[in-house]
Amino acid sequence: MKRKEALKVSEEKLPKKRFKHCQRVAETAEKMAKIFNADKDKVYLAGVLHDYSKYDDLGKMYQTVQSEGLDPELLEYKSEVLHGPIAAVKVKNKFGLDDPDVLLAITHHTSGAKQMGIIEKIIFVADYIEPERSQPGVDFIRDIIYKEENIDRAVYQITKANMQHLLEKDQTIYYKTLECLNYYNMAKE
Ligand SMILES: [Fe+2]
Ligand SMILES: [Fe+2]
Repeated sequence: MKRKEALKVSEEKLPKKRFKHCQRVAETAEKMAKIFNADKDKVYLAGVLHDYSKYDDLGKMYQTVQSEGLDPELLEYKSEVLHGPIAAVKVKNKFGLDDPDVLLAITHHTSGAKQMGIIEKIIFVADYIEPERSQPGVDFIRDIIYKEENIDRAVYQITKANMQHLLEKDQTIYYKTLECLNYYNMAKE
């Protein structure tokens, strides 16, 4: 799949604001790919497509989990976790995108995971720090990326912040998020 086609399908599927966010994630990811020596075409594609299923019907997402044999644990969660794995299945089936690095980056952008590849880590972080993001602490993460150039520490800090937020709301933590936290707590030094 080429950039142009990815942009077209993303723009057709998503509300304008969300499409613009996807474009900014792709551009941020491309900038990060230069710092971390990653494939810029792969990160760009993953960035453009990562939120493809953000607004899909939840019932249909659960059907896809079952028909595609995805992790049954996902049935305990909502779109916040599901839209990553579902988007990966969709872009694979609908557009024949079969690059495992790109598919894993789309899958894990919602949860994180242990032992992520560089494409996965870049999308996970770019989604959090794209230029229009203004959540508390975002500049701290930007400094970890652009000044320290320590992507593992950025993944850890983002996962920690996400998890604190979930715990604050008494939400259940998907096991991959917990594995991500523990793994990058060790990997970050
Ligand atoms: Fe997302
Ligand atoms: Fe996103």
